[in-house]
Amino acid sequence: MTTEATTDTGAEPLISFQNVRQVFRLQGQRSGAGAPGRSREFVALDDVTVDIAPGQFVALVGASGCGKTTMLNMLAGLVTPSEGRVSLAGAPPRLPNMDIGYMFARDALLPWRTARKNVELPLETRGWDRARRRERAGEVLSLVGLEGRESQFRLQLSQGMRQRVALARTLAPDPSILLMDEPFAALDARTKLTLQAEFLRIWEQHQGSERRKTVVFVTHDLQEAVLLADRVIVMLPNPGRIAEDRVIDLPRPRAKALGEIQFTDEFKRTTHDLFERLEGAIGDRARPVES
Ligand SMILES: Nc1ncnc2c1ncn2[C@@H]1O[C@H](COP(=O)(O)OP(=O)(O)OP(=O)(O)O)[C@@H](O)[C@H]1O
Ligand SMILES: [Mg+2]
Repeated sequence: MTTEATTDTGAEPLISFQNVRQVFRLQGQRSGAGAPGRSREFVALDDVTVDIAPGQFVALVGASGCGKTTMLNMLAGLVTPSEGRVSLAGAPPRLPNMDIGYMFARDALLPWRTARKNVELPLETRGWDRARRRERAGEVLSLVGLEGRESQFRLQLSQGMRQRVALARTLAPDPSILLMDEPFAALDARTKLTLQAEFLRIWEQHQGSERRKTVVFVTHDLQEAVLLADRVIVMLPNPGRIAEDRVIDLPRPRAKALGEIQFTDEFKRTTHDLFERLEGAIGDRARPVES
């Protein structure tokens, strides 16, 4: 079962997008039709309004180019909206924000550092001393199932292990907001399911507590969105906008049953319903819109 998401929960939202519009200026590069050097504008996001409560797990789903990464970048303070307002706990996002962990699709590990040293990186930025860094890195590496791999380098690790290191690095400073940009997209189906379950186990352990992290999780994979999230926001491109905002009522904790949930009628109904909505994002409706 899904229900229309309401943002009227009474709780103060932690994350808020209010009528956000993002216009990128593109330099004309084509010879022929477009005059070289002439810039034109591209509307990446149009009238996006979303409120996210603290501790909520929200998935953003949509075709390539609908502005998902741009929304994460706004929360991280990397992109300032052309119009409208983005706020985090009532204030505009700032850079750097030590309370945010940002994880990308590709592991982006530094190849000259061991797994442990990669995980220590955000702790160095935060000024933790050596002993504390080492202890915390060991702790999160074992949390993601990498005990015994601490001294290995990127090249010695499988793609799944690299993503585990990246996850450990994101979790190490214990940020209260996680921005995850297709974190498991590069993995095969089996490894993906294992990592989804591991991540959900870590996130769900603080169920009902103030320590539960707020997650904004970007994915192309609708099934992944429904499996993991409390709420799925479906986006359409050209211009990037919100088409659907649904609460997912699948019971929690889900981590132990992820494999089975996928075969339940409720899960199938929900994904099918959202799939039909998402379909509109794919194909000939995608056309460039200029402002
Ligand atoms: N800095 C930039 N300058 C110009 N255009 C940009 C910039 N950043 C993003 N865009 C454009 O804005 C649109 C949205 O980009 P964004 O990366 O947010 O999409 P996305 O939904 O994350 O796509 P994908 O699923 O492929 O990662 C794209 O058309 C992209 O080319
Ligand atoms: Mg993206």
